[in-house]
Amino acid sequence: MTNAYLYKSTKRLLLLTLFTAFYTCVAFAQDGEALFNSNCKTCHSPFDKVVGPALKGVENRHSEEWLLKWIKNAPGMIKSGDPDAVKLYNDNGKMQMTVFTNLKDEEIKAIIKYIVDVKPPAASVAAKPTEEGGEEKSSNTWIYLLVAAFVLYLISGILRRTQHTLAQALRKKQGVPEPAAMTRWQGFVHWSRNNKKLLAIILITLFMFGSVKAWYGLMSIGVTQGYKPDQPIKYSHKLHAGDMKISCIYCHSGAERGKVAGVPSLNVCMNCHKFVKQGPTGDKTEIAKIYKALDYDPDKGTYGPNPKPIQWTRVHNLPDLAYFNHSQHFVVGKIECQTCHGPVQDSMTVAYQYSKLTMGWCIDCHRRTPVQMANNAYYNDYHKELLAKYGSDSLLTVERIGGTECARCHY
Ligand code: HEC
Ligand code: HEC
Ligand code: HEC
Ligand code: HEC
Ligand code: HEC
Ligand code: HEC
Repeated sequence: MTNAYLYKSTKRLLLLTLFTAFYTCVAFAQDGEALFNSNCKTCHSPFDKVVGPALKGVENRHSEEWLLKWIKNAPGMIKSGDPDAVKLYNDNGKMQMTVFTNLKDEEIKAIIKYIVDVKPPAASVAAKPTEEGGEEKSSNTWIYLLVAAFVLYLISGILRRTQHTLAQALRKKQGVPEPAAMTRWQGFVHWSRNNKKLLAIILITLFMFGSVKAWYGLMSIGVTQGYKPDQPIKYSHKLHAGDMKISCIYCHSGAERGKVAGVPSLNVCMNCHKFVKQGPTGDKTEIAKIYKALDYDPDKGTYGPNPKPIQWTRVHNLPDLAYFNHSQHFVVGKIECQTCHGPVQDSMTVAYQYSKLTMGWCIDCHRRTPVQMANNAYYNDYHKELLAKYGSDSLLTVERIGGTECARCHY
């Protein structure tokens, strides 16, 4: 009797410990990184400057207390005149960081821990579309799960053996005859009857993992993050906007004027490529495609009668039901191109879709980002009115001016 009891309670304890340990690992191991990816990655990388500074080593630059305050409400700290905050603001072209009053201290500490622990990957960090990292990560989770399941299976096998031997010994001692042998299925039915709770736990766990997986699967339908099509000419943003520091607006001037940023006509390229006939490796074929499309003869310097416009493959494409306007964000909202398009000039030899471009992505930013109202001609009177209502600039998010109302983005 005592043997069976001992066995049962040990088994329970063991299972409980295993489950708890396993879930704690899964839940906490990814916390900081996941939080960083969903909140900070649009503007920060640990190793490179994106919109904000590279964050590696930030724990040595500021105290933890300062970091907690800063990350929750950077604009508030700048406004309060904290010397470190004001210096950061001035050194980064007076860009404002988003407000994160929704993050708890523990979550911010987890993010900082992630920044402290994270190691630079062998290759360039920013060069990869974010999607690949995500996939690697979830397959890791599956490996952990499989290993854990296997260990559980082994342990349960050993326990069953022990139980069987013990029971046999007990029956022998008490002179009870051996029960008839059971088939595997009968054995399973018998086991489930005696272990209803355990069975329920296993089924619920499987169901939960299944639903979470399916949910994430559904969420990513129609999301084209990381999309990186081949282009008819191997034009490189890294070379032109990065190494040569040509301003984005030089080629995408539409972003300043209105809805569409626009892709430049080949005549813009000719401002330089009339003279620059080969690339850094001495290769002429890609630049020759510009000449061919314009029916231009580089030797004589004359244009022929048959230009054929280049068909660039579009990378970003919102569905028609949604309205997005570049100048509203870039000129009025003072948001840098890189906040939405990523480190274009640092790593994109081929342009790719950096952000998710889902409705949740737009709304999330509208909930967090304060409207740049101070000294903004668009908002003179409205600013005073809203300040009277909400009290502080850092609380005047896009949401407060109606940026989460359906009709603003859907007409
Ligand atoms: C919208 C872009 C944006 C987002 C999102 C953002 N930051 Fe920042 N961050 C900045 C900018 C810009 C600065 C530089 C200071 C300034 O100009 O206000 C900065 C500065 C910092 C600094 C100080 C760095 C230093 O070198 O001293 C820390 C720490 C920081 N951010 C952490 C975070 C964390 C953690 C998150 C996510 C929870 C985050 N940031 C999200 C833009 C952003
Ligand atoms: C010398 C001209 C030039 C400069 C400078 C330039 N671009 Fe581009 N950009 C192009 C061309 C040409 C394309 C279309 C081919 C491609 O997608 O690579 C393009 C495509 C893009 C796309 C993808 C458009 C789509 O199809 O959805 C984005 C986003 C973009 N550029 C952002 C930027 C940003 C941000 C900068 C500044 C850091 C910049 N560009 C600087 C010429 C330029
Ligand atoms: C607030 C986020 C955001 C900012 C800031 C932003 N973009 Fe965009 N960009 C988008 C979205 C969303 C699309 C897709 C628009 C669509 O399909 O209608 C896009 C599309 C583009 C395209 C291709 C389609 C088009 O409109 O021509 C180019 C090129 C581009 N952006 C360049 C830029 C440049 C250059 C800047 C900075 C001057 C910039 N973007 C700033 C979000 C942004
Ligand atoms: C402001 C001047 C300037 C403009 C505008 C410009 N380029 Fe260039 N581009 C250069 C220079 C300079 C090089 C050669 C860089 C080198 O040799 O280091 C180059 C190189 C190239 C190459 C060769 C890359 C390689 O690896 O072989 C291609 C292709 C190219 N540009 C395409 C374009 C296209 C397409 C446009 C228009 C959308 C454009 N460029 C606009 C200056 C410019
Ligand atoms: C990086 C942050 C950010 C992202 C991402 C973003 N927005 Fe915005 N959006 C802003 C800011 C800041 C403003 C306020 C600009 C201003 O002062 O008018 C704004 C304003 C707007 C407005 C005008 C709202 C109003 O009440 O006047 C519309 C419409 C809009 N955004 C649509 C979109 C759509 C659609 C997307 C996604 C495809 C998007 N935005 C993504 C920051 C963002
Ligand atoms: C800040 C801009 C913004 C606001 C506010 C907004 N949406 Fe959207 N919505 C979008 C964008 C962008 C898409 C396209 C997203 C995609 O293709 O993943 C979209 C897609 C949709 C779709 C198509 C289904 C889908 O997921 O593709 C529906 C339906 C929709 N929105 C309803 C609403 C309703 C209802 C509201 C008000 C409660 C609302 N939206 C507010 C930007 C917005």
